[in-house]
Amino acid sequence: MTESLSIPRPDDWHLHLRDGAMLQGVLPETTRHFARALVMPNLVPPVVTAADARAYRERIRAVVPEGSDFTPLMTLYLTESTDPADVAAAADEGLIAAVKLYPAGATTNSDSGVRDFAAVRAVLERMAEIGLPLCVHGEVTDPSVDIFDRESVFIDTVLEPLRRATPGLRVVMEHITTSQGVDYVRAGGPNIAATITTHHLILNRNHILAGGIRPHYYCLPVAKRESHRLALREAATSGEARFFLGTDSAPHIDALKEHACGCAGCFTATNTLPILAQVFEDMGALPQLEGFVARHGAAFYRLAQNAGTLTLVRRATPLALPDKILTGAGPVTLFDPGFPLFWHVTP
Ligand code: DOR
Ligand code: ZN
Repeated sequence: MTESLSIPRPDDWHLHLRDGAMLQGVLPETTRHFARALVMPNLVPPVVTAADARAYRERIRAVVPEGSDFTPLMTLYLTESTDPADVAAAADEGLIAAVKLYPAGATTNSDSGVRDFAAVRAVLERMAEIGLPLCVHGEVTDPSVDIFDRESVFIDTVLEPLRRATPGLRVVMEHITTSQGVDYVRAGGPNIAATITTHHLILNRNHILAGGIRPHYYCLPVAKRESHRLALREAATSGEARFFLGTDSAPHIDALKEHACGCAGCFTATNTLPILAQVFEDMGALPQLEGFVARHGAAFYRLAQNAGTLTLVRRATPLALPDKILTGAGPVTLFDPGFPLFWHVTP
């Protein structure tokens, strides 16, 4: 049995850091293991312009722990009034690595997102010209569509028409949760990739709902039935460069998770790598872990792989992690994978 694994320092290609006291509280949980992260722009108000992204990057840099060389990679939140020239200038100066598309109303703080795709056509065309990836929250928002079908309906009714209308647009389908998502990305050629979260490799919908409601397992897109979880595990461990890690680690304080109308999001920054090592080991795919967490995403974003290595060691005693991270904004419960973690990240 493999007892130790050294991999290039990993990247998280989909991360929510928030702002203020929450940012300060959760950032060390990412910088401890990750060299870079693609930071989501769904603040209130959202990160819409290059100036917003520059200011947010400064707020992040100001609280990066002493001694860390962590690099936040910024994104812009696509709205119907986004200026193509502002996006292109931000990409050109290396300020942003992607633009994020939230269909209006799809998830947390998505109210400023896109309703009318004709209104963002010029931005998408400019992005296709310059090769800037569009990160897509792939769920329709039509209330008549069942929540468990919203990803597959999005692929057919929004994503495929959008990609056909914008040849050359580079797309990352974020946090795929279905076998249809896996199949679509596999069939889509070199201009499409997908992130897969840690929690969607662990959870199916029974985990959220059977035997009592588990608010800390509620996220969007919501976890689907078991066959979909298995398809995601197969894709993540396949070694295919089109699939890579985006944790979607999304902190909310306990008071807002354990609530009559609880927020969506699983907080996985702290224990993602030990969980993934276990998943990949269980799948007989430990050698594929480094591609998934450290190489495939960088290649899609046309960035160099990180220098330095991170070592995971399999120990006889499980990791002892706290249940919660205490932030200045309030306590945030750590994602519980439901099994002990024997893979320890060594300093
Ligand atoms: O579960 C989620 N939480 N999904 C999202 O798309 C947004 C995120 C958040 O910002 O809390
Ligand atoms: Zn997200």
